[in-house]
Amino acid sequence: MSTRKFSLWLLAILAPAVQGLLIESSRDFPLGSEVENLALRPSGSVLATVYTFPQIYEVAPRPNSTPKLLYTFANTTGACGIAQSSTPDVFFVITGNFSFQTFTPTPGSYAIHRLSFEKCGTPIVKKIAALGDISQPNGITAVPNTPYILIADSRGGLIYRFDTKTLQLTTYFDHPLLKPFPTADVRFGVNGIKLSRSYLYFSSTNQQLVARIKATGSEKVLKGSPEIVASPTPADDFIVNDLNGDVYIAQADTINGIGFVSKDAYGSAPVTIAGGPNTTALLGPTAVIWAKGAVGKTLLVSATGGFEQFYTQNYTGGGKVAIVHLE
Ligand SMILES: *[C@@H]1O[C@H](CO)[C@@H](O)[C@H](O)[C@H]1NC(C)=O
Ligand SMILES: *[C@@H]1O[C@H](CO)[C@@H](O)[C@H](O)[C@H]1NC(C)=O
Ligand SMILES: *[C@@H]1O[C@H](CO)[C@@H](O)[C@H](O)[C@H]1NC(C)=O
Ligand SMILES: *[C@@H]1O[C@H](CO)[C@@H](O)[C@H](O)[C@H]1NC(C)=O
Repeated sequence: MSTRKFSLWLLAILAPAVQGLLIESSRDFPLGSEVENLALRPSGSVLATVYTFPQIYEVAPRPNSTPKLLYTFANTTGACGIAQSSTPDVFFVITGNFSFQTFTPTPGSYAIHRLSFEKCGTPIVKKIAALGDISQPNGITAVPNTPYILIADSRGGLIYRFDTKTLQLTTYFDHPLLKPFPTADVRFGVNGIKLSRSYLYFSSTNQQLVARIKATGSEKVLKGSPEIVASPTPADDFIVNDLNGDVYIAQADTINGIGFVSKDAYGSAPVTIAGGPNTTALLGPTAVIWAKGAVGKTLLVSATGGFEQFYTQNYTGGGKVAIVHLE
């Protein structure tokens, strides 16, 4: 038995998760980093945005890897949504000013950028456009083989379509299930969005649900009635298993864990399969993606270490990328 295997085995014994799934993690991000969203490079390494600093980190998908600062944006306080484009190793990233003290965005501060890499690995970042009309951009997803990006507006309760060629921004989907509750302490409607299996899946945080609606992402305007996939759930971002429709949800406080809904159980409350109220394994999870070549097998999860610290500014750390082995 190698020492590495031995230490993993110890970890599994010392930190049992719900149903005994093995959870490993990177080292902590610097204190005060709210790890917000994830994307996968073709190499398998992870790009992680930070919303409390205008930064992107790269994290090797291995236990105890040290997050490496990749890029710092100017003239903004945070980076939020990140998604891969149709071109390999090219990503779209949204930046903007969001206050974790008041839980509100600064109107007019958001912009979208294109991130690519030189052969030597140096990041090349180009601003594509300001997104001044969107109250609070959150999850984004590129529509495969088109110039379109779908952008969730958590505060406006809409999904926009942005054309990266013409820079046209149009309202793509408007529905009551996308809306935040106007009286909520933290107004968050539609949050994560994903295209999978000919559907647009979305989470809606105040409404405590994940839903889906038939979509290609190329329609100018999407119409129809969504079907509830999971409810109730304190959902942030999520991922779909493209092969079978199973859904894995980053569930915020007070669950602090990954919620699972199988295709057969659509419409029900998620089962917590990793983390959970009585462990600190996945505090304040924000997003979930698949590890390279591991759909249905290995999840990568961004965890903030708990949201309260960003509000109180009494930082306790714990921001990381966790690896959750489903089998
Ligand atoms: C956003 O924050 C940056 C950095 O503090 C600042 O330079 C910029 O003016 C802010 N944008 C708006 C619209 O307030
Ligand atoms: C910084 O952001 C503000 C507000 O969005 C904008 O007016 C200004 O032109 C930006 N400055 C630079 C250097 O990008
Ligand atoms: C968490 O711990 C409390 C107190 O020990 C217990 O009542 C509760 O059932 C536990 N919850 C879970 C999900 O394990
Ligand atoms: C900061 O957090 C730590 C750990 O939770 C706690 O012990 C400490 O009292 C807090 N400090 C303040 C000033 O709130």
